[in-house]
Amino acid sequence: MSKKANQTSAALITILASSKDDGRSLYDNVYRAIRKAILERHLPPGSRLPSTRVLAGDLNVSRNTVESAYAQLEAEGFTRPHVGSGTYVRDVVVQRSGSVQKTAVGRRPMNPQETLSQRGKLIWSTGGCPEPLQVRAFSAGMPALEDFPTEIWQRLCSRRLRSMKGPMLGYGNPQGADQLRSVIAQYLATARGVRCIPEQILILTSSQQGLDLCVRLLADPREMVWLEDPGYLGARNAFLASGATVVPVPVDDEGLQVSVGTKKAPKARLAYVTPSHQYPTGVTLSLNRRIALLDWAEATKAWVIEDDYDSEFHYAGRPVAAIQGLAASDRVIYVGTFSKVMFPNLRIAYMVVPPALIDSFVTGRSLLDGHSPTFFQSVLADFMEGGHFAVHLRRMRLLYRARRDFLLDIAQERLSNWLEFGALDGGLQVPAYCKIPINDERFSKRASSVGLELPPISKLYLTEPAKPGWIVGFSALTPTQISSGMDRLSELLDTL
Ligand SMILES: Cc1ncc(COP(=O)(O)O)c(C=O)c1O
Repeated sequence: MSKKANQTSAALITILASSKDDGRSLYDNVYRAIRKAILERHLPPGSRLPSTRVLAGDLNVSRNTVESAYAQLEAEGFTRPHVGSGTYVRDVVVQRSGSVQKTAVGRRPMNPQETLSQRGKLIWSTGGCPEPLQVRAFSAGMPALEDFPTEIWQRLCSRRLRSMKGPMLGYGNPQGADQLRSVIAQYLATARGVRCIPEQILILTSSQQGLDLCVRLLADPREMVWLEDPGYLGARNAFLASGATVVPVPVDDEGLQVSVGTKKAPKARLAYVTPSHQYPTGVTLSLNRRIALLDWAEATKAWVIEDDYDSEFHYAGRPVAAIQGLAASDRVIYVGTFSKVMFPNLRIAYMVVPPALIDSFVTGRSLLDGHSPTFFQSVLADFMEGGHFAVHLRRMRLLYRARRDFLLDIAQERLSNWLEFGALDGGLQVPAYCKIPINDERFSKRASSVGLELPPISKLYLTEPAKPGWIVGFSALTPTQISSGMDRLSELLDTL
């Protein structure tokens, strides 16, 4: 045997010994060892593998085992046989796989400027829409997870699990399960004044997915989209990532200033609004502005995206009905989510789509991720049909109102020199504006170092002057958490 073949066998024996996994078959271990040697260039392009007989002897395995490993490598394009002279490592595959391998193990960090497409760079530059993974004072927009009726939920899950067989294991309807679409349509008609039939409902993984779909399907790159200023970062980033031009439209105590939008960008394709409970100010869009917005959309054939993310939680009287129900025309796309009224990990949201757009939205959705798991859609529909959803909402409304009142009482007692709260009628958080000029972003970092989560409001503004302050969540916090969080916050404010 040649010296080279000897060295190759020795390298393979070393790799095999270091990566051998007794849970895998012998053939698989040999195949993986050779593949690793090729990717890491212990076996460079053009080099010849030892004959199956020699390698089988060196590795002390059967010749069949080596032959199967060689056949697999050849089938995957790592090697090519040469009649009469043996098996050789291919060139091109080695270079490509080698670079994939390097990135995967993180030896060479990716430089997005070199690697990504123009679209990819845009997506990356937004920073995405990550949500905090833990609940602490003053996590915002988070339901009281400890108070969710898990026993009922588990019982309904178990019942559905028993029928999870046969056809239930196959693909589901990309538009969503019929039963869930019907219950949502009924619920929206009574609770939110939304006018729709189940055929207009599209089940989604999240509102975020809905915003992404809307901008992709309805606005071309550089076309204009109105965004409330200050406004929701998830919406801003979805629109920017798609290449749309985001036009900030200021918000006052009547909500979006429609007249400014019509002056700045009369030909915008989309307007994003949170009319029932503006994010983050909490104000409600006045009726005059609602009508002006719909008139503009109708006249210019623009679309209004109504993000109704937390209007179920209204603590003084009934919430204002959705704009979608007001519209004589079909220019409104209504987006709702179960992240707040149930729990975020459920990953079920929905959109009410005007009839003209249903087919294109269902097609677009099927390209994103097919459909949401039918299992949880069915359990959720059972939960709603069984009356548990209504009971849960009533309980949470009372709980959150009590938590909000508790937070405001303490804040009034201890923090009134520093903070002034914005609209308080509903939602899972309140904006707290700072009475003195302050860099709210820097303060948020200091707060984070003492275990407080206080997202700065100035980051949600697209134009100056931003009103400094923080978004203060209360719904997920017990009185003890609120009280100790307030202690830490007042200590920190005292150092200013
Ligand atoms: C205005 C607004 N819309 C939508 C959402 C998120 O909903 P989802 O979890 O369904 O994406 C949030 C979450 O905080 C929000 O504040």
